[in-house]
Amino acid sequence: MAFTAAGCLALFMILCISQAYSHVEQKIHPVMKGPYTSSIEELQTKIKYQFKDKSLLAKTMTHASFSLDNNAVLNILGSEIIEAAISFHYLSKNSTISKGDLTSQKAKISNCSALSKDAFDLQLNELIRVAPKVDPKAQIIVCGCYRALFGAIGVDAKSLDVAREKFWIRQGRNNIKNVQKHFPQQDL
Ligand SMILES: *[C@@H]1O[C@H](CO)[C@@H](O)[C@H](O)[C@H]1NC(C)=O
Ligand SMILES: *[C@@H]1O[C@H](CO)[C@@H](O)[C@H](O)[C@H]1NC(C)=O
Repeated sequence: MAFTAAGCLALFMILCISQAYSHVEQKIHPVMKGPYTSSIEELQTKIKYQFKDKSLLAKTMTHASFSLDNNAVLNILGSEIIEAAISFHYLSKNSTISKGDLTSQKAKISNCSALSKDAFDLQLNELIRVAPKVDPKAQIIVCGCYRALFGAIGVDAKSLDVAREKFWIRQGRNNIKNVQKHFPQQDL
C-alpha cells in the first residue's frame, strides 16, 4: 500500500517536472533553431561563457523593434557593469588616478563606437533580431546588444564579477597592446 502511494507520488513528480521542462522548451525553441543555434554556440565559445538560461540569450539578441520582450533592460545593466568594470579596473591598478584620467578612460572604452568594434567581431549584427526595416548593423543597435550581453551574463551567472571579467577578456583581446601598456601584469 505504502509502496503504491510512493509510486504514485513519484509518477506525479515526474509528470510535473517534464511538464515544467516542456514549457521551457517551448519558450526557447522557436528562437534557438537551425543555423541560428550554431552561431549562438559560436558566440558562447568566443565570449568564454555558456548561458544556463538560453532564454536570456534570446532576449539579449532581440531589439525593441522586434518584440516587447527585448534587450532594453539588459542593456541598462550591461552599461552599468561596463562602466563599473572600467572604474574598478583602473582604480585597482592606480588608486591615485585623477578624475579626469578615469573619466577619459571610461569615455574611450565604453562609448558606442568603441564597443561596437567588438560587437562586430562577435557578429552580433548577424544574431540580433530586428524589425524588417531596421538595420541590424546600425551602431546603436549592435552596441546596445553588446552591452545587453554583459548584463545578461551578470544575471545568468548571478554575479556582476563574472560579467566584469568577461568584459575585460574581450577588451584585452581587442586592445591587447593598449591594456598591456597600462597593466603589464594583467593576465589576459
Ligand atoms: C596614477 O594616475 C595619476 C593621475 O591620473 C598619474 O599621474 C600617475 O602616473 C598614475 N600612476 C601610475 C603608477 O600609473
Ligand atoms: C570612442 O572610442 C574611440 C576608440 O576608443 C575613441 O577614439 C573616441 O575618441 C571615443 N569617443 C569619445 C567621445 O570618447
